[in-house]
Amino acid sequence: MTESLRIFSARLIKWQREHGRHDLPWQNTRDAYRIWLAEIMLQQTQVGTVIPYYTRFLERFPTIESLAQAPLASVLELWAGLGYYARARNLHRCAQVIVTDHGGEFPKEVQVIAGLPGIGRSTAAAISAFAFGTRAAILDGNVKRVLARCFGIEGFPGSAKTEKALWLLADTLLPAKNIEAYTQGLMDLGSTLCTRRKPFCSSCPMHALCIARREGRQAELPVSKPGKVLPERETSLLLLNDGKRVLLERRPPAGIWGGLLTLPEGGTAEARVFARRHGFSLLDMQPLPSLRHSFSHFHLNILPLLCTVEARACLVAEAGWQWLEHVEIETAALPTPIRRLLRGMLQKVG
Ligand code: ADE
Repeated sequence: MTESLRIFSARLIKWQREHGRHDLPWQNTRDAYRIWLAEIMLQQTQVGTVIPYYTRFLERFPTIESLAQAPLASVLELWAGLGYYARARNLHRCAQVIVTDHGGEFPKEVQVIAGLPGIGRSTAAAISAFAFGTRAAILDGNVKRVLARCFGIEGFPGSAKTEKALWLLADTLLPAKNIEAYTQGLMDLGSTLCTRRKPFCSSCPMHALCIARREGRQAELPVSKPGKVLPERETSLLLLNDGKRVLLERRPPAGIWGGLLTLPEGGTAEARVFARRHGFSLLDMQPLPSLRHSFSHFHLNILPLLCTVEARACLVAEAGWQWLEHVEIETAALPTPIRRLLRGMLQKVG
């Protein structure tokens, strides 16, 4: 074990230089804003999905100031489809804190960074390493898997005890220099070779050291969460369709899809209320096939109700309400399951 501890970082740095990723859009810069944005987007989303969102976001908000000054709705709009929208709300709030409390300059001390909205210990360490060369340990889900396998750490990594052991290990492994290549190497190893299922052990620089590989226990480490079943929730959503357009509602800031445009919640009774309020007649109501969407903390079963309506003289919707043209369904800023429901509706109504 002590021998493995000694050689882990040198092997990882050498491997990263030869086989790691060097041309991602957030690499080859010391701009803390660009690095911070990437790390937040990458918290729960894969590199391939993040890249186009990252590019668009920076085009629209090239500086921390421009982000801080923007309305939250326009930040959420650029985030639509990435999921975990609390990240976007925290990012916006964080930009405002940096402007008001730090004169618009991204702070340099890792403890200060870790105290900013939406930035925990691991993300703060990644930003500090890449932007300022600070020697600080990262420990996200991928890194937990690499360390649990390589060093044979037993116990569910989400438990306080195992997490503490992993942080201690992550701190112990830090190299004296080359923190950037080392940190990137941990991320690259976790996402390209030491994958959750079917890891590519024969190409791994830790092949000889790795306890899971030596004992053939790659499928058992890290230990998975003990018997946790996510709760099921159910909601009905209304597709109020006038043949060319469908009515959307902006959600209040808190809760799922907070601040985003979605379909109004409700069944037949609510459909009648909305019809009265928005001045259209309800011609027909029919249920569409249900759709299941999984969030991190629960599964949501969506029961869509297609309502055919006749909108008189194109009434302007109230604040918070918006008619969406069918031709805009593919391009509008919508949560993914809402877009799926709208596609299902188009298949039905043509
Ligand atoms: N995942 C989290 N941070 C990352 C980074 N900087 N590069 C690639 N994947 C990552």
